[in-house]
Amino acid sequence: MAVTGLFFVFYVLLHMYGNLKVLAGPEAFDGYAHHLRTFGEPMLPYEGLLWIIRVLLVLSLIGHAYSAFTLWSRAGSARRTKYAALKTASSSKTMRWGGVFLLLFLTWHLIHFTIVKPAVNSGVASDTIHSSPYAMVVASFQLWWMVIFYVLALAALGLHLSHGVFSAQQTLGWTQTAAGYRRAKAIGHLVAGLVTIGFAIPPLSILFGLVK
Ligand code: HEM
Repeated sequence: MAVTGLFFVFYVLLHMYGNLKVLAGPEAFDGYAHHLRTFGEPMLPYEGLLWIIRVLLVLSLIGHAYSAFTLWSRAGSARRTKYAALKTASSSKTMRWGGVFLLLFLTWHLIHFTIVKPAVNSGVASDTIHSSPYAMVVASFQLWWMVIFYVLALAALGLHLSHGVFSAQQTLGWTQTAAGYRRAKAIGHLVAGLVTIGFAIPPLSILFGLVK
């Protein structure tokens, strides 16, 4: 869980950085999306780097989900009768159901921005949305309900990251002293806060008309 999770953290930080380029305008954002596809040419084919990242993401997702289900069923079968007083820790419940919600969000997100790219804002032509990632993102986040959905997903991501980044450090044995425990908690909160706020800035800026 820890190794695949850390790869996701690396990816979301990179993705968040790319998204913030929307604040710099259409040339910067669309230029970045284009550069991602031509990166490493001619050593790599067109979209070569993107496909390497996609394969690693899918493998990580399989590994992460497999570990989660193994842990989930191990926790369930460890004792035949349930403890009367002891309930499953609320953080593990948040991780499980939060993880399921994130998976649903990701399914919609890939349909929305990568695979189908539906013109959800009917005022913008489908051709424009397909040719400019900037136009696609700006059109989508002019819809308040879309922004609410993304902000909810980002809150779920923040909770997941806060506990996940702490847990990964526990797995590495960095939480055995009181100071180490506090540091691991602080790093978890820091990464979660950074990612949630960094991702929320573009949709909110678009909704409130700061990016047009
Ligand atoms: C407000 C938040 C977000 C915005 C505006 C956003 C925007 C985008 C855009 C525009 C693309 C298409 C990029 C391109 O084709 O060049 C994309 C792809 C993607 N996003 Fe996001 N994203 C957000 C949040 C997230 C989060 C939280 C995750 C992960 C948990 C995520 C994971 C992905 C993945 C895996 C892809 C597919 C990359 C590919 O293979 O082409 N995104 N996103």
